[in-house]
Amino acid sequence: MTKPLDGIKIIDFTHVQAGPACTQLLAWFGADVIKVERPGSGDVTRNQLRDIPDADALYFTMLNSNKKSLTLDTKKPEGKEVLEKLIRESDVLVENFGPGALDRMGFSWERLNELNPKMIVASVKGFSDGHHYDDLKVYENVAQCAGGAASTTGFWDGPPTISAAALGDSNTGMHLAIGILTALLGRDKTGKGQKVAVSMQDSVLNLCRVKLRDQQRLERVGYLEEYPQYPHGEFGDVVPRGGNAGGGGQPGWVLKCKGWETDSNAYIYFTIQGHAWEPICKALGKPEWIEDPAYRTAEARQPHIFEIFKTIEAWLADKTKFEAVDILRKFDIPCAPVLTMKELANDPSLRASGTIVEVPHKKRGSYLTVGSPIKFSDMKPEVTASPLLGEHTDEVLASLGYSRQEIFNLREVKAV
Ligand code: COA
Repeated sequence: MTKPLDGIKIIDFTHVQAGPACTQLLAWFGADVIKVERPGSGDVTRNQLRDIPDADALYFTMLNSNKKSLTLDTKKPEGKEVLEKLIRESDVLVENFGPGALDRMGFSWERLNELNPKMIVASVKGFSDGHHYDDLKVYENVAQCAGGAASTTGFWDGPPTISAAALGDSNTGMHLAIGILTALLGRDKTGKGQKVAVSMQDSVLNLCRVKLRDQQRLERVGYLEEYPQYPHGEFGDVVPRGGNAGGGGQPGWVLKCKGWETDSNAYIYFTIQGHAWEPICKALGKPEWIEDPAYRTAEARQPHIFEIFKTIEAWLADKTKFEAVDILRKFDIPCAPVLTMKELANDPSLRASGTIVEVPHKKRGSYLTVGSPIKFSDMKPEVTASPLLGEHTDEVLASLGYSRQEIFNLREVKAV
């Protein structure tokens, strides 16, 4: 089956998570992604948090499927020469080195553009070019703090909190993928490549858009009616942490279900959607609340929203999270069980849709990974194993016209 990105050649000069997540997505959709790695060691995640001695760590395998691996020391003249050849015939180069590393290697944007004016050069950095922090190296949690996520996540009486979701890393990679695809479409019109840059701070902030909304509302009216601090608590001059409150116009909270005393995930998220008030009252056996002026409108409910949540918890006390959702779904109430990684890994629906996939690997045996969250009517992205370090070095060099003797010579000088 042909795939939409068949024929697009990508030099994957990425490491850790932000860059690899981007190029993995493009590889699923058909791009020929060649991961360039330092001989002997490769991407640092190959070795990080290993669960099997001598086999690539899951951290690596789950972010580098469907790629080829070429080992190349791009600081050596021989390695630079190979990279230049590859650049001349590639469509995209993706990198997420620390600030200035590519320039120091001799591959500035100007040089890359000179070598191949049609190539798209895509970069992830912690902060955008020209930002007063643009010299900083950045990892996930640093970005969550710099992008506004940490100050607005968690409970108001606790410290700023990091989300488990990779808002700084994989999210930035997804933004970069959109940028690359846009630049490829642009190139079809202009014939020219361009530089695409995404900062982790900007990508986190983009997902915290509603918190910037709240900052402006707070400055105008002095309170935020959907936050737990309203109306009994205090507001300062910055958006507070809202615990588990819903971020939009629908109040919601994480509520205890049967077994919460021993199972730390026996909870559901319950949303009180305005127009669902009547079915909620019926589901809870509280028909008298439907027309009661103290409960009838969202505004009337807000001052005693936690009393309402307590009543719902009393109703949930004899129901597991799954039983509760099975009842509530019949009343059209937006809700979900709090699912654990174990439950997700074994979820038959996620297996059937290809969101959780089992991938055979030469050294590890099979492992689980998250497949494409994007589904297409004409294509089912197939996930194949991540490459071993340097697995495709000979193949890639041969495709660039290197003879067996030349490949041998490159090995002799430890350039590959
Ligand atoms: N051959 C030779 N040298 C290579 C190489 C290769 N194939 N691949 C990388 N290198 C070198 C680089 O040239 C650079 O050398 P230099 O610093 O002497 O110029 C070095 O390896 C890599 O540097 P750097 O990317 O800064 O690695 P680090 O481990 O110190 O920092 C990060 C890691 C992630 C903090 C940093 O890369 C970064 O801030 N990246 C941008 C933001 C980002 O993507 N962060 C999220 C990661 S999930």
